[in-house]
Amino acid sequence: MSPFLLTRTLPEDATDAALRADVLQGLTGMPKTLPPKWFYDAHGSDLFEKITELPEYYPTRAEREILVARSGEIAAATGARTLVELGSGSSEKTRYLLDALTGLRTYVPVDVSESALTQAGHALIAERPGLDVHALIADFTAGLTLPRTPGPRLVAFLGGTIGNLLPAERSAFLKSVRSLLAPGDALLLGTDLVKDAAALVAAYDDAAGVTAEFNKNVLAVVNRELGADFDPDAFAHVALWDAENEWIEMRLRARRAQTVKIPALDLAVDFAAGEELRTEVSAKFRKDGVRRELGQVGLELTHWWTDEEGRFALSLSLAR
Ligand code: SAH
Ligand code: TRP
Repeated sequence: MSPFLLTRTLPEDATDAALRADVLQGLTGMPKTLPPKWFYDAHGSDLFEKITELPEYYPTRAEREILVARSGEIAAATGARTLVELGSGSSEKTRYLLDALTGLRTYVPVDVSESALTQAGHALIAERPGLDVHALIADFTAGLTLPRTPGPRLVAFLGGTIGNLLPAERSAFLKSVRSLLAPGDALLLGTDLVKDAAALVAAYDDAAGVTAEFNKNVLAVVNRELGADFDPDAFAHVALWDAENEWIEMRLRARRAQTVKIPALDLAVDFAAGEELRTEVSAKFRKDGVRRELGQVGLELTHWWTDEEGRFALSLSLAR
């Protein structure tokens, strides 16, 4: 087996068809929305890495702290021989797991960002000659099929990315994750926790404006891929805490009335002055809710670890 395999489970034109369908649906609906997976072209993936280093963006540091402290326990509890990681991005924090999982044979990073997968994959095989890396370009919400690799299998979903799914998407997603697991396999899930609104809003609206640039990158993707004429400067970045849903909501607010043309869809979209386009939610969690949602799909929460300050949690659950 070659040490680094990159498999595309979606043909490139399927990605294009999915983008068209999402943009058409999202920009003709009320209120206007765009799904977050389109943030992550090569530039978006680079911007996200910058976000992880911002002083205001605590989730990455908090989750790293937990992984440093707990990877040994995770290895002992799972005995994983295959590690699958959904939305793996740079695989930066994953290295603590790779170090601790002594019986590990195969690492399967899954991401929609081809640039993130190739960069991370090549770095990993250079560092770890014994490890098989089988990267998958795939949408983790669209019915994943995994390569046949040795069990037990550990599926990791880090970064709080599960919070970017809306509640209905989240339960469908958890069911599909459960279907990837055999009895004795495990899910390692990173969830950001409910905390005071000021700290949350700052994490999604940093002083240097990197998150604003990231949020607007979705407009650049639609411009490039569908020939649209969004002017990113005509939109303002908005991050607000929705206390009822317990999620951060990211929006782009039209600074003035404008019409955006999207030739590939033969569409013109009107924005009123001040109208907002929702680009992302980032839900925050509590232990009871996580336990319940996992239990609903037949996953039993066995471990719950937080960072010292109690900002972020990693949970381990086992398939029965
Ligand atoms: N796990 C990393 C990256 C988190 S950012 C960390 O914790 O730092 C979210 C990652 O998920 C990005 O790399 C993005 O490209 C990927 N992603 C977002 N939506 C996705 C989807 N629907 N399917 C597959 N990957 C997705
Ligand atoms: N999974 C990350 C989170 O919810 C993604 C993210 C961080 C993000 N900052 C963002 C997405 C800003 C859009 C805009 O924390």
